[in-house]
Amino acid sequence: MFKRPKKTITCQPKCGVCPKGRTAASGPYTAGVMEHFSKPHNYGKIKNPDGVGKVGNLICGDVMWLYIKVAKNKDKKDIIKDIKFETFGCVAAIATSSAITDLAKGKTLEEAIAIDKREIVQSLGGLPPIKLHCSVLAADALAEAIYDYYTKQKRPIPAALEEKHQRIKKEKDIVEEKYKDWTQKEEEIHNKQ
Ligand code: FES
Repeated sequence: MFKRPKKTITCQPKCGVCPKGRTAASGPYTAGVMEHFSKPHNYGKIKNPDGVGKVGNLICGDVMWLYIKVAKNKDKKDIIKDIKFETFGCVAAIATSSAITDLAKGKTLEEAIAIDKREIVQSLGGLPPIKLHCSVLAADALAEAIYDYYTKQKRPIPAALEEKHQRIKKEKDIVEEKYKDWTQKEEEIHNKQ
């Protein structure tokens, strides 16, 4: 069981991610990564979500669930009103999951679909190159949650989102087959929470 760092300090330069207590950079990770890892934003489930995205990482087998609640803004456009995540993954996976919830909240669905891993990594002040693959989980989970929402609403799926979904689904099937015992245990733990 990992121990999360408790000590917060004012870091220089400020990462621009967190309004108050800032966590020091640690080892290969920036202060932004450590802040989101030690105090993840929007962690948990949403009751009766409008869309759910579940994705698996091909490289390591880590899994993430992302939930969205959708509402209309004053221009009558669909926006992400609420968003939460549960991630069974590493420091970078948890930090990028937390970061994407901040980036997506309040955005229209079109804007949210456009959030890519580069933007997520940038918002954290960077990731070690060996951990860049972890940021894919968050971007894919958001796309899947929006795909799920469109499907449930019987709305036409934009071509780029359909293409993304097909790629993600293929990868998820591989992960679930390759890491069968592991992903089944994760599913059990997830369902108990
Ligand atoms: S090592 Fe699996 S997502 Fe980071």
